Amino acid sequence: MRAASAALIAFGLIAGGAVQAQEPAGATVFKTCQSCHSLDTAKAGMAGPHLAGLNGRVLGSAEGFDYSPAFKAAKAKGLAWDRERLLGYLTDPDAIVPGGWMSPPAGLNAADRAAVVDYLLKQ
Ligand code: HEC
Repeated sequence: MRAASAALIAFGLIAGGAVQAQEPAGATVFKTCQSCHSLDTAKAGMAGPHLAGLNGRVLGSAEGFDYSPAFKAAKAKGLAWDRERLLGYLTDPDAIVPGGWMSPPAGLNAADRAAVVDYLLKQ
């Protein structure tokens, strides 16, 4: 009986760990973006554009969002998002889109930025 309950406890610990591991770090970091961004292309009225299908998407091209002149200029140049450009934007937006409106959430470190970018590239 004691062995059986020890086994049950061990199983519970393993199962608990697996549940925690299901949410990737990037999804957790994305929660800091969700006050302004959605992954739902149909959701209107957010402060920022939707971020679905970002891999290879032209900057400033989310349908129905009124971007800053800086993003309109980037779109006119045909610049597209990739991993490096997204990491650069989250590190220093002005380095990628000078004069744009977004300030990334405070307190993100390099690992957080990499996690959220890798997550978004798959959405
Ligand atoms: C306080 C609101 C706010 C938060 C929080 C925020 N953003 Fe933004 N984001 C914006 C706005 C507004 C724009 C449009 C900027 C412009 O037009 O200059 C934008 C634009 C972007 C774009 C460009 C999209 C495109 O269509 O080209 C990306 C990528 C982006 N944000 C990523 C993020 C990520 C990742 C986070 C979280 C780590 C985040 N943002 C957090 C407001 C926000």
